[in-house]
Amino acid sequence: MTPDTNRRWLLASRPTGEPTREDFELEESDVSEPGPGEVLVRTRYLSVDPYMRGRMRDADSYADPWGIGEPMRARCVGEVVDSEYDGLETGDVVAGNLYWAEYATVDGDRVERVEVGDLPVSTALSVLGMPGRTAYVGTVDVGRVEPGDTVVVSAAAGAVGSVAGQIARIAGGRVVGITGADEKADWLTDELGFDAAVNYRTAGDLSAAVAEACPRGVDLYFENVGGEVSDAVTDHLTDYSRIAVCGKIALYNQEDGDVPRGPRRLHQRTRTRVEGFIVSDHAHRAEHITDRLRRWVSEEEVRYRETVTEGIESAPEAFLGLFEGTNVGKQLVRVA
Ligand SMILES: NC(=O)c1ccc[n+]([C@@H]2O[C@H](COP(=O)([O-])OP(=O)(O)OC[C@H]3O[C@@H](n4cnc5c(N)ncnc54)[C@H](OP(=O)(O)O)[C@@H]3O)[C@@H](O)[C@H]2O)c1
Repeated sequence: MTPDTNRRWLLASRPTGEPTREDFELEESDVSEPGPGEVLVRTRYLSVDPYMRGRMRDADSYADPWGIGEPMRARCVGEVVDSEYDGLETGDVVAGNLYWAEYATVDGDRVERVEVGDLPVSTALSVLGMPGRTAYVGTVDVGRVEPGDTVVVSAAAGAVGSVAGQIARIAGGRVVGITGADEKADWLTDELGFDAAVNYRTAGDLSAAVAEACPRGVDLYFENVGGEVSDAVTDHLTDYSRIAVCGKIALYNQEDGDVPRGPRRLHQRTRTRVEGFIVSDHAHRAEHITDRLRRWVSEEEVRYRETVTEGIESAPEAFLGLFEGTNVGKQLVRVA
C-alpha cells in the first residue's frame, strides 16, 4: 500500500565555510505512486559523506553541484514497497543513489538488490559499500602497499580510513593511524590491529609524533585530511614513497581563495609518487573488491563500526558531525 506523505531534505542555501542546519530544509510532500518501470522504495538507511560538501558548492568538481531547492541526494538502502518494474518485487531490499528522504519513486534500474549475505543491510553503505571499496582501491591499486611498508592513514577511525588501515595490515604493512580522539586511537590499536595511533588534537608537535610512531619513515600515506596533518606526514616520507590522495576533508569548508596552494612540503621528496583517485572510476572492479571485503569481514580480518543517528530529521546533524569527528566508522542515518 502506498503511504501518504514523504519527508525529504532540500538544499536551502549554499554555505560559506562551515555548513549549518539552516542550509537544509525539511519538506513534506505526497508520495508518488510508481509509474510503468518504476519502484517506490522506503529508505532504511541513508549515507552521509564528506563529498556532499562539494556538491553544496557551485563550483567545478567531479560531482555536479546540487541546485538550491533541490533534494539532497544520497546512497541509500531501502525496501521496495510497490513495484511496476519487472525484476523487483515488494519486499526486495535494494541500494541505489536516492535522496535524503523517507521514500523515493525512481526507475527500477536505478537500484539493485543488496547482496550482503548474513551481514546487516547497512553494511552495503559501509564496509561492503563505497567506503570499503575506496579503502581497497587507495591501499592496493593506488598505494600498492607492500609487506614491510610503514603505512600512515589519516581520518583513520572513519569509514574509509578504518578499513584502509586494516587492509594495509593484512598486506603486511606496519600501520599508523592519525585521528582526533583518544577513544578512537584506542579502537584502532586495541581492536583493529593498528600498530600505533596519533591524536592530532593533543599531539602538540604533530610532525615529531609521526616521527616517533614511524621510526623508519613513511612508505605509504593514505591521505584523507590534507592541511597540517598532511604536512606532518610528508616530513617523514621515504625515498620512493607513495601518497594515495583519497580526500582532504580539512579543506572542504574553506573557500577557494583560502585553500593553501600545494602540494606543500614535498620539496625534498622528488621520488615520491602522489596519485589521487575517485572510487567510481574503479566501478568495473566493484564486485571483485566487495567479494574480497565480504570474506575478510566474515573471517574477522576486517572489523567495522557504524555510527547511526535516528530518523530523517537527524540527517543534517549526522552530516555536519563528519566535520567535527562525531562519528566512529561509517556515519549513517536510520530512516525506517
Ligand atoms: N576518492 C574517493 O573516491 C573517496 C570516496 C570516499 C571518501 N573519500 C574521502 O575520504 C575521506 C574520509 O571519508 P569518510 O567517508 O571515510 O569520512 P569519515 O572518515 O568517516 O569521517 C570524516 C572524519 O574526518 C575527520 N576530520 C574531519 N575534519 C577534520 C579536520 N579538519 N582535520 C582532521 N580530521 C578531520 C574526523 O575524524 P577525527 O575525529 O579523526 O578528526 C571525521 O570523523 C574524506 O576526505 C572523503 O572525501 C574519497
